[in-house]
Amino acid sequence: MSVHKDVKRITTHVLQEMKSNNEKISMLTGYDYSMAKILDKAGVDIILVGDSASNVMAGHETTLPITLNEMIYHASSVVRAVERALVVVDLPFGSYQGNSREALSSAIRIMKETGGHSVKLEGGKEVLESIQRILTAGIPVMGHLGLTPQSIYKFGTYTVRAKEEEEAQRLIEDAKLLEDAGCFALILEKIPAALGAQVAEALTIPVIGIGAGGGMDGQVLVSHDMLGINNDFNPRFLRKYHNLYEEMFKSFQSYIKDVRSGDFPNENEQY
Ligand code: KIV
Repeated sequence: MSVHKDVKRITTHVLQEMKSNNEKISMLTGYDYSMAKILDKAGVDIILVGDSASNVMAGHETTLPITLNEMIYHASSVVRAVERALVVVDLPFGSYQGNSREALSSAIRIMKETGGHSVKLEGGKEVLESIQRILTAGIPVMGHLGLTPQSIYKFGTYTVRAKEEEEAQRLIEDAKLLEDAGCFALILEKIPAALGAQVAEALTIPVIGIGAGGGMDGQVLVSHDMLGINNDFNPRFLRKYHNLYEEMFKSFQSYIKDVRSGDFPNENEQY
């Protein structure tokens, strides 16, 4: 029997059952009402209001500039569209690191002002206190390890993480720490597939990967990337399901041509 087919609403408990039942979890990003409506109707299990909005929506080079208010704007737009999926909202850079009280108040703002169902934050041991404090308020937390884009200036590059034994061991320890703290799920980004599979096997909570191989309990991609809206982002892990850049480009060109020629609007397109 399939767990996800029988539920009207995806909760953290449903995700846990899906892992126990060996059912893969699908997750995609969403930042606005219209796209979230399509994602939800298509049946995606989790919609992530990712801080990747900083890149794909706002055009920043990194995820660092996006603010808590901006995340709240995106998340509340998404929540208004969703009937079934679990909505996870990223805590943006600067809203939870180093001060667990601030972390809790950021998470509370997200829950109160957006209606989202949970928050996600990046890091292991160094943000454990923030995670613990957020959990005391009954807010579900998703962890994020491996490539953590909010630390890009520490890493210096977006290449694969944890290829060396020492970093891999640290990642395994952090993953266990997050599970023991009470995180309901974990994202692993851009790490070797063998390490990803090892972590997914070792943890009882769902482990969802992006560029972390096929041994994960689920997969996540940035919707704009898998739709091919952004045609100059082509990492190896990305499967493009469409070339929407090309489709949109051609549609915009046709519209411009029709307006210029007077072909649009025709008799049936006016009152
Ligand atoms: O912000 C985001 O889109 C993410 C995914 C890459 C997991 O954190």
